[in-house]
Amino acid sequence: MKTLRVDLGERSYPIYIGSGLLEQDNLLGSHINRQEALVVTNDTIAPLYLERLCRQLTIKKLDTVILPDGEQFKTLETLNLIYDKLLTARHSRGTTLIALGGGVIGDMTGYAAASYQRGVNFIQVPTTLLAQVDSSVGGKTGVNHPLGKNMIGAFYQPVAVVADIQTLMTLPVREYRSGIAEVVKYGLIADPDFYGWLKQRVERINGRDEQTLTEMVERSCFNKAAIVARDERESDIRAILNLGHTFGHAIETTEQYKGLLHGEAVAVGMLMAAELSCQLGWLARRDVEELSALLETLGLPVSVPAVMTPEKFMAAMAVDKKVADGVIRLVLLESIGKAVVSADYASNELQKVLDSFCSSRK
Ligand code: NAD
Ligand code: GLY
Repeated sequence: MKTLRVDLGERSYPIYIGSGLLEQDNLLGSHINRQEALVVTNDTIAPLYLERLCRQLTIKKLDTVILPDGEQFKTLETLNLIYDKLLTARHSRGTTLIALGGGVIGDMTGYAAASYQRGVNFIQVPTTLLAQVDSSVGGKTGVNHPLGKNMIGAFYQPVAVVADIQTLMTLPVREYRSGIAEVVKYGLIADPDFYGWLKQRVERINGRDEQTLTEMVERSCFNKAAIVARDERESDIRAILNLGHTFGHAIETTEQYKGLLHGEAVAVGMLMAAELSCQLGWLARRDVEELSALLETLGLPVSVPAVMTPEKFMAAMAVDKKVADGVIRLVLLESIGKAVVSADYASNELQKVLDSFCSSRK
C-alpha cells in the first residue's frame, strides 16, 4: 500500500492506494471517531462492494443508504435521502459518512457531510478511475441544480481517501478511459516525466495492469495533492486542473450530458487547448500531434461530436464559471508539463481552433 498526504494544516489527510484495501483490517476503521457510520453508495456499486466494505467494519452502529445511479440523480432531492437516513437512524454529530462510489457519490456524500449537523467526519472510498485520481481528493463537494452543474456545494475535506485499485477491474471500459483523460491531464499541466511514463505504458494501461494502475493513480494523486495544498479554494493555481474543461463542458452541455462522458469531452478539450497553445507559438506542432496520437491509443476521442459548431461552442463557453468580465479565461500550455490560465490570446486565434475542429467533426 502507498500512502500520500494532502497537506492542509489541521485539515491534512492521507490517501491510501493499493489492491484489496476495502478488505484491509482497520484501515477505514482507524478514521472513524466514534462507533457510528453511514455508508453511502448506489445500486450499481452496492452489489459489487458494499458487503465487502461493511464486513471489516466492526463498529456498533453501521447503516447504509443506496441511492439511484446516475448524474441525473446528483440533486438536492437525492441528497435528502442521505439526510433522511441519518435522521431516522439517529446519527449524532460524531458520525462518519463513507462515500463508496464514483464522483457522483463522492460529491454528494461530501456535501451531506459538510452540512449534516454543520459538519461531520467523512471518508472517500472512490471506485472509478476518475474519482481515484481526481474527485475524491481536494474537497470539492456538491450537487447539480437544474440551471447549472455543481452549482450548490462546499469545499469540505475528507479525513481519508481509500483507493482500492481492484475496484477498477469492474469498471465499464468507457468509464475507465474517461478517467484516463484526467490522468493525462496531470502530465500535461504539471509533470512532463509522468507524461513520458504514460506514453511508454499505453498497452499496460489499456490492459489494466494492476501494478501500472497503482503507480498511475499514485502519481496522479501526488500532482493533485500538491496543487490543492497550494491553493485549496481555487483562487489561483488550482484552476490549471481545468485544462480542456471549458471546451469539454461546452460539448457536454450542448449534448445535454447524453453524448460524450466527462473525461471523453475533456480529452477533446485538452487537444483543442493544445492546438490554441500551438497557434500562440508555445507548443510545437509535434507536441500536438503526439498528444492526439496518445489520446487515440488510449481509446479517447480526438474530434468533436457532429452536433458541435463554432457558434455552439461560443454560446456554451460564454456561461462557463471561468468567464470574467466577458473574457473567457482558458487553461493553455506554455510547454508540455507547464500550464497557465490566460485570457491573453486574440479572439481570432480561438475562432480558428473552433473552425478547424468543427470542420472535421465526427
Ligand atoms: P460516476 O460516479 O457516475 O460513475 C460512473 C459509473 O460507474 C456509474 O454508473 C457508477 O455507478 C459506475 N461505477 C462506479 N464504480 C464502479 C466500479 N468499481 N465497477 C463498476 N461500475 C462502477 O462518474 P465519475 O466519472 O466517477 O464521476 C463524475 C462526477 O464527478 C461528476 O458529477 C463530476 O461533476 C464529479 N467530479 C468532481 C470533481 C471534484 O473535484 N469533486 C472532479 C471531477 C469530477
Ligand atoms: N477537478 C478540479 C478540481 O478539483 O479543482
